Amino acid sequence: MSDKFSSEVDVSKEKIHWDFKDKMSYGGYLGLENILASQTPMTDEHDEMLFIVIHQVAELWMKLVLTETGGAIAHLQKDSIGPALKMLTRVSRVQEQLIHAWDVLATMTPADYLKFRDKLGQSSGFQSYQYRTLEFSLGNKNAAMVKVHKDNPTAFAMISAALDAPSIWDETLRLLARKGYAIPTSHTDRDWRESYTPSSEVEDVWRDIYRDSEKHWEAYELGEKLVDLEHKFQQWRFNHLKTVERIIGFRRGTGGTSGVDYLAKALNLRFFPEIWTVRTTL
Ligand code: HEM
Repeated sequence: MSDKFSSEVDVSKEKIHWDFKDKMSYGGYLGLENILASQTPMTDEHDEMLFIVIHQVAELWMKLVLTETGGAIAHLQKDSIGPALKMLTRVSRVQEQLIHAWDVLATMTPADYLKFRDKLGQSSGFQSYQYRTLEFSLGNKNAAMVKVHKDNPTAFAMISAALDAPSIWDETLRLLARKGYAIPTSHTDRDWRESYTPSSEVEDVWRDIYRDSEKHWEAYELGEKLVDLEHKFQQWRFNHLKTVERIIGFRRGTGGTSGVDYLAKALNLRFFPEIWTVRTTL
């Protein structure tokens, strides 16, 4: 018989650190005790753990996406496109994880979910302040959405700051203006709290960039990176909608909306509208 296989790894000759009494350990550094103590199902139903973990994992990924998007915005403010592109690439990779996560959730049937859905009360992803902060940071400003966070100071501060600040699209247009592109002043200096109004002049700029991509390579690359990000965001929204339809049909949402009909409306939202509309006229 071959001796290639064994039933245990021999660690006797490894210089492994076994004692962590006064030293930094894996779990200590990562705060694992807190994280792993944060799954508190309200029922004994088997699928509730999946429901909790999938939301928590999504929130952790959103935290990273917010860090990367914030970093990218800071670089765009300094005209440093390369590092911004690198961060946006990471955002896209995380988005792929978020999109694939729906396949895990889809293993929960309507019957499984209905066993504990009543216990959720009025809680809903609609109240995810990281998600709303991200939407604001990308350019979908909607001041009405802040209201739901008025009783949570942490959430309120985070989401209000994102509402007040220029989005990544605003910063992209400001960067283009600094580089000499004919972005109208209405789009480089405006009330950032207002929802964005698309501009034919902005679309003209992107048309020039796309028609001669070699001459405008940096702007072209940034534009495509943003399209990639928005495309993936739409895929996430679509997969959410279809997974929701698969699990609860056309029931109302626990957050109070019409459910699938409400989620369908979000499919028509655009963070970077001109970069999409320009495609029809290239
Ligand atoms: C059984 C699983 C799920 C169901 C049935 C469900 C259902 C819904 C419904 C009906 C809404 C509309 C708001 C409402 O009235 O509640 C909503 C919103 C939302 N859900 Fe889910 N959801 C599920 C899983 C998830 C997961 C895993 C996430 C990940 C974080 C998530 C994130 C969100 C977000 C961010 C919104 C707000 C979307 C917006 O306002 O555009 N949902 N969900």
